[in-house]
Amino acid sequence: MKDLETLRQEIDACDEMIVKNFERRMELVMEVLAYKREKGLPVFHPEREQQVMEKVLTNFSHTNLPEEIEQLYTEIMRISRKMQSKRLFPYSIALVGFMGTGKTTIARDLAEKLEMTSVDIDTLIQEKMGMTIGEIFENYGEAHFRKMESDMVEELSVERNMILSCGGGVILSPYNVMNLKKNSRTVLLRALPETIFHRLQGDSSRPLLKGKMHLEHIEALLEKRRVLYDEAADLTIDTDGKSIDEISKEIIKKLLQEN
Ligand code: S3P
Repeated sequence: MKDLETLRQEIDACDEMIVKNFERRMELVMEVLAYKREKGLPVFHPEREQQVMEKVLTNFSHTNLPEEIEQLYTEIMRISRKMQSKRLFPYSIALVGFMGTGKTTIARDLAEKLEMTSVDIDTLIQEKMGMTIGEIFENYGEAHFRKMESDMVEELSVERNMILSCGGGVILSPYNVMNLKKNSRTVLLRALPETIFHRLQGDSSRPLLKGKMHLEHIEALLEKRRVLYDEAADLTIDTDGKSIDEISKEIIKKLLQEN
């Protein structure tokens, strides 16, 4: 049997190889990314990840560690996606738009696709206060909520590589919009008042719609804010009739065209 020192030296040699090859692999991924961008080819290719995984598992079908290799490659793919996203989107993506336009849902889907962290500003405020948005409005008033919202936006404005899901009223303050734009691209999600009404009907969590859950009120509030939403947006996406996946892909595509 080899002595402990020899075994450890062999492990060290393996680690050196793993690190060197990992670094080289990531360099190549970045070269592929640059090539695709130069040639105008689509950069996000989820099927390719699947192919790589299948190839690895077939090529190494003799391995004693199939599960572990799959786990390892899942992580390698995740890191690779994250590195590519950082290169392609060296900023955060802030989703703005009226209540019920799907900001939270799209934020989660985008975060998964781009390996970014998804942050919901309303959720952070609720956690901080230990109460719901409705309770904050009731106990402290809207102005207090708006102050908390502005503070939270300011705090998050230094971050990059995050998907920020903003409350529908974030655009009411030019200070918030200025802060968001420091390190984020602002993406406005739009939906028809009928769609919004349909989605929010029966949902009692929005204090601004409490006792006024009807189409006319939604239309009026939307109209009042329309210019502010438009002015705040770097990019606008109409969401009616589109799936979550389609909306996220459209955002990614439009942001990449912008660069
Ligand atoms: C608000 C929207 C809500 C929440 C609060 C106020 C607004 O967020 O921040 O009830 O002024 O439009 P959602 O847009 O996520 O519902």
